Amino acid sequence: MAEIVLASTKEAAGEVVASHIAGLVAGNPETVLGVATGSTPLPVYEALGARARDGLDFSRVSAYALDEYVGLPVEHPESYRSVITKEFVEAVGADPSRVHVPDGSLERIETAGERYEALLAASGGVDLQILGIGTTGHIGFNEPGSSFGSLTRVKTLTEQTRIDNARFFDSLDEVPIHCVTQGLGTILRAKHLVLLAFGEGKAEALAASVEGPVSSSMPGSAIQLHPHVTVVVDDAAASRLKHLDYYRWAADHKPAWQGL
Ligand code: GLP
Repeated sequence: MAEIVLASTKEAAGEVVASHIAGLVAGNPETVLGVATGSTPLPVYEALGARARDGLDFSRVSAYALDEYVGLPVEHPESYRSVITKEFVEAVGADPSRVHVPDGSLERIETAGERYEALLAASGGVDLQILGIGTTGHIGFNEPGSSFGSLTRVKTLTEQTRIDNARFFDSLDEVPIHCVTQGLGTILRAKHLVLLAFGEGKAEALAASVEGPVSSSMPGSAIQLHPHVTVVVDDAAASRLKHLDYYRWAADHKPAWQGL
């Protein structure tokens, strides 16, 4: 079962996750992080930025993004390459040559998935994967129906996801229809999954992912197949969890020796 961490605010959630990541990086300067886009991970990156300003060295850390839009120029401010550069690389002072994002350019799109899988294989494995969740239950861009064995490949976004993400663009028409995303099988290979969710809008997908049936109709439920998952949520995102009392009880009785 995933460990459920109830945070009072997004900032507190960011601190919990950043503090754990800082410990990993201090212990292994070559830690391999899986990074996510969207608004959810931003408090983590902000808190990591504070650690970097305090002297934590991220220059040998590698990072692998979950996904990228297809056909959006990398220079576009909403390409996930741009977002990861701005929100993560610049915040922590990572070495851009160690930060990887799937290649969404149309010219070589047929091989984008296998090329990214080869990069991930060469990394030696992701130590900690940060995840958000979409209102459709997607993790990465694995929309409902994605195979639990899927690897990095091109996917078609649902209309709901395009509508959700239109807030980052001038109009819905500008939101790409296709993406390249790590598969659920790829994500499940990371050593530790840390899923964050904030706000009432995520409550249903979160409860279905944590407590619902394991089903490709709810891609987030793939986390139930992983041996080491931490779910960090605010009260609103946690509001539909059936076993909330138990999660609070477990948190209150967490053995001091147990890390995240
Ligand atoms: C995006 C990303 C996901 C992200 C999700 C939620 O489209 N591909 O990795 O987790 O949707 O976004 P947000 O965190 O902004 O709610």
